[in-house]
Amino acid sequence: MPFATTTETGASIQGPTATLLYDDWYPALRTSTLRGNKLATAMLLGIPLVLGRRSNGRVFAMRDSCPHRGIPLSYGWFDGKHVTCRYHGWEFEPCSGQCASIPSLSSHDHLDATRIFATAFHCEERDGHAWVFIPRPGSGRKGESAERLKAVPELVKFGPRFRTAHLSANLPCNVDHGIIGLMDPAHGPFVHQAWWWRSRASIREKTKRFEPILEGFRMSAHAPSGNSAPYKLLGVYGQPIETTIDFVLPNRRTEIIRCGDKWFSSLTTVTPVTASTCRIDVVAAWNIFYYVPFVTPIAKFFGAKFVRQDQITMIQQAEGLRHNPSLMLIDDADKPAKWYFALKQARLDANSQVSDARPGAPAAKHPMDGPVDLHWRS
Ligand code: FES
Ligand SMILES: [Fe+2]
Repeated sequence: MPFATTTETGASIQGPTATLLYDDWYPALRTSTLRGNKLATAMLLGIPLVLGRRSNGRVFAMRDSCPHRGIPLSYGWFDGKHVTCRYHGWEFEPCSGQCASIPSLSSHDHLDATRIFATAFHCEERDGHAWVFIPRPGSGRKGESAERLKAVPELVKFGPRFRTAHLSANLPCNVDHGIIGLMDPAHGPFVHQAWWWRSRASIREKTKRFEPILEGFRMSAHAPSGNSAPYKLLGVYGQPIETTIDFVLPNRRTEIIRCGDKWFSSLTTVTPVTASTCRIDVVAAWNIFYYVPFVTPIAKFFGAKFVRQDQITMIQQAEGLRHNPSLMLIDDADKPAKWYFALKQARLDANSQVSDARPGAPAAKHPMDGPVDLHWRS
């Protein structure tokens, strides 16, 4: 339980426990790395994965471990249809994990190879991510988690014509620190100081309305503050600008900015790689400045700087966290972080009450009763 007592100063002290949330989709890697019959590896929630693309175009993800003697399957061969283990040559169909052949079997053997399965995961391609559904441990074969599958996360787009970009950075902290850093409104003027963004001197008081949504919360549609980058950029169109930011479990922040028929949409995820490390990914699509040359490299340049600033801060924070300090969450600037912990705990509680939490099972309790205004200076 990540929550602890409230002190005399009104701040609550806590350190996130970083319990992992299973039965959800996580981005494993960029599908642009899955070319030809190449096998690629990734790690999600401490599980080693081998990924590839079948010759019919389908992406797949298996546990990177042969069910025979545990050697990583990624050391083996892939011919577009079957993954062959490099130790004794067992062949597996990678979408189902089903064993197709055991070369050592003789006419005297009665073993049915097709009854043997390597662990395969549900895997779908969206926005250039290979999303992998990680079921809770011990929940059986791939088919058995099928009824608990949720919709595959996808970036919202408002038209057929847009540009896209992706950025990624490894963070040396557990997923909870990564996520609360992601939704933290008070670090902007300090971590992201830059002439093109904002400076400490531009700090001003803000009020934002938040509302509960399914397994998350929304910063309701609002005009971005006058000292923010989207405002400065979109101001050139001379139309009203509206921003909506959602956070939903387990790890997704969606930001949508609209200005007339111009839009920008991003999906940021903080994915647990192991229990103590995570990775931030940003995928974005936009039609703003569609015809301006070099917009994508320029956007990537500034976006990368921005993500790098967060990454450097978290590397520094990890140095401090090694000594297990007690930590604080204050009102109102850390309220979104408190909601995150409460939402996460509610999902864990709901899962433990219902051994088989499927759509239609009692919904997890939401920490918000209704819309609420938060105030902070940033
Ligand atoms: S370890 Fe893979 S076939 Fe034996
Ligand atoms: Fe940041």
